[in-house]
Amino acid sequence: MSRLNEYIQDVFKWNEKMRAFLESEEIERHSELWQKLDLFTEIMEGIKDPQSIEELIDVQNFADELHADMEKYFAERQQIGSIYLHEPTVAAGGHVLPPLPYSYNALEPYISEEIMKLHHDKHHKSYVDGLNKAEKMLQDARKSGDYSLVKHWSRELAFHGSGHYLHSIFWNNMKPNGGGAPSGSLIKDIEKYFGSFDAFKKHFSEAAKQVEGVGWAILVWSPRSRHLEILQTERHMLLTQWDTIPLLVLDVWEHAYYLQYKNNRGDYVNNWWNVVNWRNVEERFQNASKLKWKPY
Ligand SMILES: [Fe+2]
Repeated sequence: MSRLNEYIQDVFKWNEKMRAFLESEEIERHSELWQKLDLFTEIMEGIKDPQSIEELIDVQNFADELHADMEKYFAERQQIGSIYLHEPTVAAGGHVLPPLPYSYNALEPYISEEIMKLHHDKHHKSYVDGLNKAEKMLQDARKSGDYSLVKHWSRELAFHGSGHYLHSIFWNNMKPNGGGAPSGSLIKDIEKYFGSFDAFKKHFSEAAKQVEGVGWAILVWSPRSRHLEILQTERHMLLTQWDTIPLLVLDVWEHAYYLQYKNNRGDYVNNWWNVVNWRNVEERFQNASKLKWKPY
């Protein structure tokens, strides 16, 4: 395909996307925007097979003009609140298992392929299924007005919901050839609050090793106190300090390490630092720390 044709194909695709977008936003058919897009479509139909560069330049100019018009039109409508962009949301019972951001054996030798397969495909999947079930059952309760099992399903919602969300963070908190130390404002805040990076690591490791039974160690940013903190959580949701945003999480359930480390959680925790993805933690921190409540 010639470059001219390729360009025309791209413009056609853009045109189709714009039409689908106007339809999804339920923009009125007689609006100025539709009229312009219809005119553009007509012109495009007329030059499906461009013969000269001049013809192409004409199309390009018209496309640029239309693009600018559309942006202006959308900006105006957004200002007067008459246009709402559809943000994707997860419907009740609509959660899906996120894919691992690397292969199952990518964290070896620190975490074995066998653990990662079981952990992601079986354990995390069961939390997704449990969360979907709890959301659906509570949706049914809202419809029927029968809340006799609301305590049970609320517990399930917290258990499986925290299980799903924490594992979704956990996979991205790690990467092959990770480790090292964070940089930027995250390391500054770690040093400011914990004294040093080593002191932070010691505190986090001890918190992980001493979780009673099953649970997690979690580094959080507190928008209220405006400093970092290290928390433990038993199971997935007990001892949770609400109103905080998890940044770095470490799974210390047996399924995360037992096949490889047996009862030696300490070695697993110590080795885990070699797969930490600090870039990911920095990104989470950058976004989370923008959230600030009135301090008191
Ligand atoms: Fe887990």
